[in-house]
Amino acid sequence: MKDVTPQTVYLKDYRVPDFLIDNTDLVFDLREEHCRVTSSLRIRRNPDSATQLAPLVLDGGCAVDLQWVEIDGRRLGSDGYARSENSLTIAELPDSCVVTTEVLIKPHLNTSMMGLYRSRTLYCTQCEAEGFRDITFYLDRPDVMSEFTAKLIADRQRYPVLLSNGNAIDQGTMEDGRHFVVWHDPFKKPAYLFALVAGDLSSVEDSFVTLSGREIKLQIFVEEKDLNKCDHAMLSLKNAMRWDEQTYGREYDLGRFMIVAVDDFNMGAMENKGLNIFNTSAVLANPDTTTDAAFQRVEGIVAHEYFHNWSGNRVTCRDWFQLSLKEGFTVYRDAQFSADMNSAVVKRIEDVVYLRTHQFAEDAGPMSHPVQPDSYMEINNFYTLTVYEKGAEVVAMIHNLLGDKTFRQGSDLYFSRHDGQAVTIEEFVSAMEAVSGLDLQQFRLWYKQSGTPVVEVQSNYDAQAKTYQLQFKQSCPDTPGQTHKKPFLIPIKLGLVAADGQDLPLNSHGDRSLVISLTEQTQTVLFENIQQAPVPSLLRGFSAPVRLNYPYSSAQLAHLMANDSDGFNRWDAGQTLSFSVMQRLIEEALDQRELEVSSQLIEVFDGLLSDHSLDPAMLNLMLQLPSEAQLHERADIIHVQAIHRARQFARRSIAQALQSKLLETYKRLTEQRDYAPVADQIGRRALRNSVLGYLMLLEEIGPELAWQQFNSATNMADKAAALNALVNCAAAQDYAQQALQAFEQQYAQETLAMNLWLQIQATNSQPNGLDRIKALMEHSAFSINNPNKVRSLMGAFCSSNPINFHNPEGSGYQFLQQQIIQLNALNPQVAARLVTALTRWKKFPEPNRQLMRDALQLIASKQDLVKDLREIVSKSL
Ligand code: PHE
Ligand code: ZN
Repeated sequence: MKDVTPQTVYLKDYRVPDFLIDNTDLVFDLREEHCRVTSSLRIRRNPDSATQLAPLVLDGGCAVDLQWVEIDGRRLGSDGYARSENSLTIAELPDSCVVTTEVLIKPHLNTSMMGLYRSRTLYCTQCEAEGFRDITFYLDRPDVMSEFTAKLIADRQRYPVLLSNGNAIDQGTMEDGRHFVVWHDPFKKPAYLFALVAGDLSSVEDSFVTLSGREIKLQIFVEEKDLNKCDHAMLSLKNAMRWDEQTYGREYDLGRFMIVAVDDFNMGAMENKGLNIFNTSAVLANPDTTTDAAFQRVEGIVAHEYFHNWSGNRVTCRDWFQLSLKEGFTVYRDAQFSADMNSAVVKRIEDVVYLRTHQFAEDAGPMSHPVQPDSYMEINNFYTLTVYEKGAEVVAMIHNLLGDKTFRQGSDLYFSRHDGQAVTIEEFVSAMEAVSGLDLQQFRLWYKQSGTPVVEVQSNYDAQAKTYQLQFKQSCPDTPGQTHKKPFLIPIKLGLVAADGQDLPLNSHGDRSLVISLTEQTQTVLFENIQQAPVPSLLRGFSAPVRLNYPYSSAQLAHLMANDSDGFNRWDAGQTLSFSVMQRLIEEALDQRELEVSSQLIEVFDGLLSDHSLDPAMLNLMLQLPSEAQLHERADIIHVQAIHRARQFARRSIAQALQSKLLETYKRLTEQRDYAPVADQIGRRALRNSVLGYLMLLEEIGPELAWQQFNSATNMADKAAALNALVNCAAAQDYAQQALQAFEQQYAQETLAMNLWLQIQATNSQPNGLDRIKALMEHSAFSINNPNKVRSLMGAFCSSNPINFHNPEGSGYQFLQQQIIQLNALNPQVAARLVTALTRWKKFPEPNRQLMRDALQLIASKQDLVKDLREIVSKSL
């Protein structure tokens, strides 16, 4: 596990494998103290390899305990192979043969949640990216695709359910209470898509008839107590299957599709062929225990993993530098799906907020990397917002450049050209080029250059000539390892909004919205026959992942908010206005001046609350001031207290000025219908709960309302919102304590609800946050061994409770550093994700800056640092 000088892997060093594995036959003999894995690999030399005399070098982690090796049934002596820390080398081999190894591994001691491990009473695997090598010796790289057969043997009573990829082709009972099942997957796949599960699981079953009339068996496996929480995932799965047929022409291929829920999982879920393994938090949902946001997350992740069956499994990645080939495309696909199932504009706004807050921050920090990285030390560190979210934006831009019909043709061509292959991002772009006839040469820079481009826009209206000119200037800041970037091809969707709120015709065809492709560093666009000075509506729908600046006046922003035909830009105009108001307040706070909120903002909010024609979900989004995290991202220097104070002040001012309208809105939105996690209800609840958040700043009103809501709520969305409101309100601390206790009593047996309980307390911005965290770590609802719990408590505290985490004594940093050291030995991936909270130390003023750096340095000085941490810490210092 330890690695003092981690090796860097470079894209430019890619070579095809020297050997191929046509068939992989595995036998897993699962015992309580170990698992015996016998692997027979039918291998042959790769005719495309340049080194036809190369030895066979199989990957295998140090916890894989080799028992013996056979070639075509002949046992090798110890001089016939060489074992190093990470590999097994066999020098002399016929050009094609069967290599059999037997190894012992210890799943019950595996705390990293990679490879084969135990989650409670269950055995399960996680092989992406390089976990298979911790199970047995293999060519653990995605361009080695093989046909897998797996025989699982285990105690029948404890492990009645034995699952792997593909179809069950044989099963039987054995002596001394054991049984076996043999699985065969007819589709060739890389080892990272292998999975096995063994446990005492119950299942919910359903079926789906494909477009071509095949009936697919659908199963969700969970612990028996969770059987009542599977309906939403099942419905989401069927919707996703139908949607992928209709939208991308993609049908499911195997006879059954299985999902297994496990409590201990590093990520959301995993797309193993025919056997998706899910974090319980990404599959279980029930109105009593699950918030609206969590319901929507389940829908999105179920769809995401299902969509991988084509974008990831049937067509997979040649190497891990191509990760965004499957992830960017699949995130794009799941976003389109969620947009179609719910409200497209709401989904778009949520995604852009997420991107701007987190991906922009990543892109401006020490780990900044292109969508296609060119090097890594630890691939697990590259499952990032850039690869996923920015990668999806890049696919969205291709879609917008090509249009619906051509984009679909491009995706059809990509899937048909490369079905069964392991390919590169280049192949995806080429297919899009081939169908469209477009030259995407410059566009490809989006995959290669890191950093968030900035577009500055100026305008000039010539009243005499009736022309309107827009001047664009693009740049991209330097990022680690990259300076002097070339101009990107930036598609800017725009319109010109007239005084009456209408979009002006932009050309002789009468188009009122256009996409301009910026390709130069500076570029001018001239519009003719423009009868009046318009307000430009730029980057509609967020047509490119850039920061765009235009010197809007408040009046112009108000005009766009009221009239823009593009829903996204109506919202964004409000955000721009709020940002400028916040900026001023932050400066006032820093200068110790008296804070004053511009009356303009209050007027705008007043207008919004008075307009009952607005969709509640949209109104909710428009009432959100930029979050503290977003203000941090935008700031040159992060003044944590000033930002917190300014934002609280703005919120309180809004609440005071608009008290009666807020209260009226809260009452008007009381839900009469039975709970359903559908877009329209979700939007109403979200709005009502945001309004409650404002009302909490009014001591005479808020606490009572929230306490009532907490006690009368019939669903977790409203209950958790009320609890959160009480906990964060200084004037409601008595109620907060009672509510926390009542919640704890009611949900003691509900792991996910208790995680929410931890999370709400972790983000409590009242003073003494760190003490509360430390106390909660002793609570039975917490365990450092469970990634969800670490995220709910420590993760939430460090990323979403800035005022407490960044306290000027540095105790938050010290605490995090200690936790990271502990997690270093337990779970490298979880540790590496947590450390991000320290890596942007350069943006903080003293004393925080130095204190954060000290904490990082302490981590760096640790002897046995795993390479996940070593990479991030060394790049940050
Ligand atoms: N490939 C998974 C996804 O769908 C994510 C994942 C990566 C899960 C690595 C586990 C380990 O995005
Ligand atoms: Zn994915």
